[in-house]
Amino acid sequence: MATILATPGEWTHVTLAGAGQYDPDEGLAAAERAGAWSAWRQAMTTGPETLVALIDRAGLRGRGGAGYPTAAKWRAARAQDDTVRHVVANGIEADPGALVDRTLMELDPHAVIEGAALAAYAVGAHAVHVAVKAGYQLAVERLRAAVAAAEDAGYIGVNAMDRGFDLHVEVRPLQGAFVLGEETVLIHALQSDRGMPDQRPPYPTARGLDGHPTVVNNVETLASVPWIVRNGAEAFTAAGRNGLAGTKLVQLSGTARHAGIAEVPMGTPLREVLERVGGGMAAGSTLKAVLVGGPAGGFLPESALDTPLDPAALEAAGAILGSGQILVVDQRACIVELGRLMERFMSDESCGKCIPCRIGTRRLYELAERATAGRPRPTDPQLLQALSADVRDGSLCGHGICAPNPLTSGMRYFADEYDAHFTAGTCPAGVCQPLRVTTVAATTAH
Ligand SMILES: Cc1cc2nc3c(=O)[nH]c(=O)nc-3n(C[C@H](O)[C@H](O)[C@H](O)COP(=O)(O)O)c2cc1C
Ligand code: SF4
Repeated sequence: MATILATPGEWTHVTLAGAGQYDPDEGLAAAERAGAWSAWRQAMTTGPETLVALIDRAGLRGRGGAGYPTAAKWRAARAQDDTVRHVVANGIEADPGALVDRTLMELDPHAVIEGAALAAYAVGAHAVHVAVKAGYQLAVERLRAAVAAAEDAGYIGVNAMDRGFDLHVEVRPLQGAFVLGEETVLIHALQSDRGMPDQRPPYPTARGLDGHPTVVNNVETLASVPWIVRNGAEAFTAAGRNGLAGTKLVQLSGTARHAGIAEVPMGTPLREVLERVGGGMAAGSTLKAVLVGGPAGGFLPESALDTPLDPAALEAAGAILGSGQILVVDQRACIVELGRLMERFMSDESCGKCIPCRIGTRRLYELAERATAGRPRPTDPQLLQALSADVRDGSLCGHGICAPNPLTSGMRYFADEYDAHFTAGTCPAGVCQPLRVTTVAATTAH
């Protein structure tokens, strides 16, 4: 299990409020002593409209990357003229280096299930599908135990809480590529179809699982909901900073002094996360960049560390909130080589449905590969910029839209390093080993 990093005392715990407060293997009573299911009881007495209004006032936005307002999504599904609706809890955590959702599901499975139940109640859905990355065995076991316990207690199931509300919750382990985390692919996978992203509209809130209105929310988004019901919208808003509400789970890795998972106020500048949570750089390391958002994220230099944890601000800076990963990179790394590795991943994981992503990410990878191998072509810098824009603007889903980030952010902030690779064929960090062809005079043995 990942290490939970200590955070300053004045920072509020929302999604990690229940983590460590009970042993998930001890049963429902232990979880309830830590506050589990009290929000459910409360919300059932005040009704779904009150719940949606509360989440709206709280300013909760999706934690799955894009930051879409949760109440607006719920309202869109609720407004559909259909008697069948679904809620999907997205616990796929597609970024292979991320452990944030896994940690949350393992430490506080009841918060995820209770949050998903609340979302279902809010939108009038009678089915919740908790989709979990297949390798997350402990999370699957604990989530299933939480569902079984809540059913036995009559909190969910047929005629939940004796209020005439039926709610069936299933936990589905699913295996797939990076794009499985994308909401329309996830819906296909839950239907046991081959998964490729759909063109939108229609959005899943109008036409999702089996053609019915479906809300897809990240598990962290859902785990915030019971806390908001218990503590109020204002407390949630106050937990964030710089005009943003609530908290975000992030994962520090690489050459920070401390690596692990931490819950930080939304809107906290990256510099503060690195210094106050990560303890600064590890001994012997000097900061060169942080890769924010996982393999589709962007490399930000020291001068951009005042960027707050805010999807819009990070995007403007060339990164994404994505999986919440913050990979700290020191002076020994080559940004071009790291960009090449990320692009390789994005290219390999492209589902192939649309040409800008399928072919474009491959060409982007090849451009980076030529640069690190010491055989760039004179037009490669211009080609890289133009192709990145085409891939971003022409792709069907977020995979292709974000795929150029590791290279474009590198070119933007580490222009000298790119220039050295592109024009001089050298690697200032001494990481890349350009292929050199040397002529050796033949000697003849007598
Ligand atoms: C390539 C790709 C991968 C994604 N992976 C995840 C993921 O692992 N987990 C997740 O919650 N959302 C992921 N998303 C975003 C989802 O499509 C969707 O926006 C999100 O689950 C909605 O939940 P939210 O509103 O609570 O953020 C991914 C999107 C793309 C384009
Ligand atoms: S952008 Fe990439 S991952 Fe998304 S649909 Fe197109 S090919 Fe598939």
